[in-house]
Amino acid sequence: MRSLITGGAGFIGSHVARHCLAMGHEVVVLDDLSGGFRDQVTDGALFAEGSITDDALVERLFAEHRFDYVYHIAAYAAEGLSHFIRRFNYSNNIIGSATLINAAVRHDVKCFVFTSSIATYGAAQVPMREDMTPHPEDPYGIAKYAVELDLDAAHRQFGLNFVIFRPHNVYGEHQNIGDRYRNVIGIFLAQMLRGEPLAIFGDGEQQRAFSHIDDVAPHIARSVDVPAARGQAINIGADEPCSIIRLVELVGREFGITPKVTHLPPRNEVVHAWSDHDRARRLLGVQPLVGLEDGLHQMAEWARRVGVRSSPGAPPIEVDKGVPWTAGG
Ligand SMILES: NC(=O)c1ccc[n+]([C@@H]2O[C@H](COP(=O)([O-])OP(=O)(O)OC[C@H]3O[C@@H](n4cnc5c(N)ncnc54)[C@H](O)[C@@H]3O)[C@@H](O)[C@H]2O)c1
Repeated sequence: MRSLITGGAGFIGSHVARHCLAMGHEVVVLDDLSGGFRDQVTDGALFAEGSITDDALVERLFAEHRFDYVYHIAAYAAEGLSHFIRRFNYSNNIIGSATLINAAVRHDVKCFVFTSSIATYGAAQVPMREDMTPHPEDPYGIAKYAVELDLDAAHRQFGLNFVIFRPHNVYGEHQNIGDRYRNVIGIFLAQMLRGEPLAIFGDGEQQRAFSHIDDVAPHIARSVDVPAARGQAINIGADEPCSIIRLVELVGREFGITPKVTHLPPRNEVVHAWSDHDRARRLLGVQPLVGLEDGLHQMAEWARRVGVRSSPGAPPIEVDKGVPWTAGG
């Protein structure tokens, strides 16, 4: 089987690529290295550096490699920042996806796997369930939901098979901890390593369920072999919610200190976001295995080893009206 993995130099994509190789797939990674790192492309994969928005490049790759599966994982995923970079957000995350969907239809791809997000639910009641009507509240979530709808349209028109995953707050090795606009665990680890106070937006009572990469990536990789997953949107990740205040405590414990914190004004964000995973359990037999303390420990060990690296990261701000992250690292 031949698989294209977009975003395979990034966090989730590099792990999915590794699992696909272990499943015997030939793997091509397409990544523009805007948020990922060349050395994270798993050994054994072919690497094409470029953008999912580059129609000619995408067409060339599909014509050359005749992919059976596409795992579309690339995106710029700074949810809160997306209000301030909406043009970039929609070009990268919608037009890039449409470019890949076109190519997948033209080249008869057997299954298109897409990493959406629980951002599609917006401020829905928790736990968020797949049978709720999505109502995304920010451009990032709107782009994800638009791609979900587009996949459904491509299925109805052309028979393109797809599986949609809605992960949330995934953390672990290979996460870009140098990007100060996304991934609170990564931001906290970077702040600890730099000796800075941990920056908390608002009172820190917001709750998220932090999901270890090992409880997410293998299931994304093998979903193409599960007929019942086709055409479904599937929440995936940890069940247990945890407040940001509690996360500060756990990070402090990992480093053996009581961290200094700085409270920033609250952001315009969903206060409680975690989801129900009954569908993942039923269709894919998913059972989260890695507890937060163990997962944090593994990630912190890795972060101490590689340090805080930066990638080009966030694009230029388009609407400079109250961007919430001018302070902190
Ligand atoms: N990490 C999470 O908690 C989380 C939660 C929900 C959904 N997701 C989704 O999972 C996917 C992967 O997220 P991640 O955390 O691994 O982020 P990441 O930034 O580590 O990985 C994304 C990769 O995509 C690449 N990329 C971005 N734009 C590109 C483009 N135009 N062309 C080619 N490559 C491009 C980046 O260089 C990066 O390597 C994203 O679609 C994200 O929206 C992530």
